[in-house]
Amino acid sequence: MSTDYTFLKACRGEATDYTPVWLMRQAGRYLPQYMAVRKNVSFLELCKTPELAAEVTIQPIDYLNADAAILFSDILTPVEPMGLKLDFVPGPVFENPVRTQADVDALRIPEMEEDVPYVLETIKILRREFEGRVPLIGFGGAPFTLACYMVEGKGSKDFAQIKRMMYGAPELYAQLMEKVTEMDRLYLNAQIKAGAQVIQIFDTWGGIMSPLDYERFILPYTKKLIDGLDRANVPIIHFVKGSGTMLDTVAKAGSDVMGLDWHVNLGQARDIIGPDIAVQGNLDPTVLYAPKAHIETEVKRILDENAGRPGHIFNLGHGILPTVDPEHAKFMVECVHRLSGK
Ligand code: CP3
Repeated sequence: MSTDYTFLKACRGEATDYTPVWLMRQAGRYLPQYMAVRKNVSFLELCKTPELAAEVTIQPIDYLNADAAILFSDILTPVEPMGLKLDFVPGPVFENPVRTQADVDALRIPEMEEDVPYVLETIKILRREFEGRVPLIGFGGAPFTLACYMVEGKGSKDFAQIKRMMYGAPELYAQLMEKVTEMDRLYLNAQIKAGAQVIQIFDTWGGIMSPLDYERFILPYTKKLIDGLDRANVPIIHFVKGSGTMLDTVAKAGSDVMGLDWHVNLGQARDIIGPDIAVQGNLDPTVLYAPKAHIETEVKRILDENAGRPGHIFNLGHGILPTVDPEHAKFMVECVHRLSGK
């Protein structure tokens, strides 16, 4: 039964025979087999070609022996059909960032079947491919992280533009966030309808806010998004990078699983969050640069911090870095399995 996958059980907080593991960004540039596909196409073309997107999604499952696959795409894929011109250089860039009332008014809510058919088709191919083997995670950005890129036009160190809007034009910020949240709801529900068995929401930039401002300016939208998902049989993982000082607040968003970065002790975080929410994490991604003996020690430390509690999915505390030796990633997965009793 596909609902009996170890990973899905752990998402639901049920006891498992061993600790399931996958890596954020497990499909990507650290894998030579990814680079071989990528040398012939741009990143966006890769996302928009279902056969190729499916191929690179499968690569780390074959190589790493991970317990879950994540759809190959990007959090910004559904933002392009809202009316923003997107490029990757390699970080994302929008030619026409959202700054004014007219910009917000001009944003359209995409028709998912028509505007991002390739994402839904990739999910369908992958479900057929993975049946009986691994469950498939769909994903999207949290409304705030999407809005950061839409307003800044690219990555940022200080997020001056979105903060100007948030504090100086709160009405405009609210209108933008409502539109992005509605787009996200439709996008993630379309992924669920196409066959995604779990949804992960990435809030890469949620941790730049003070806890109070997180609660005022971000939480209401993420909570509304999660409440609006067709989640009866689909666990929701919510990863807010930098959330260590506001775990109790982030928990109010209502996900089934909380992603933890490596700045927290996983056991202490679980004590704060409580037994009703599973956790995912939280190895420092740079530990994969260390010798194998150190990787093993760190995996053991995190398993010990969890202390056998049900509802732990092992992962990195953020995405795998492109210059990591794939051997070390594979070794990490093997350690998690061996040390947790597989
Ligand atoms: O996890 C997976 O294997 C699935 C694929 C995936 C990608 N991006 C592929 C990708 C996922 C889940 C994402 C999410 C994503 N995209 C996030 C949230 C997670 C995080 O890392 O914080 C964010 C903020 C983005 C936006 C984005 N896309 C950035 C900032 C970049 C540049 C990153 C860099 O290191 O250069 C991208 C490009 C991107 N997305 C690549 C991949 C494999 C590299 C593209 C390439 O091949 O050139």
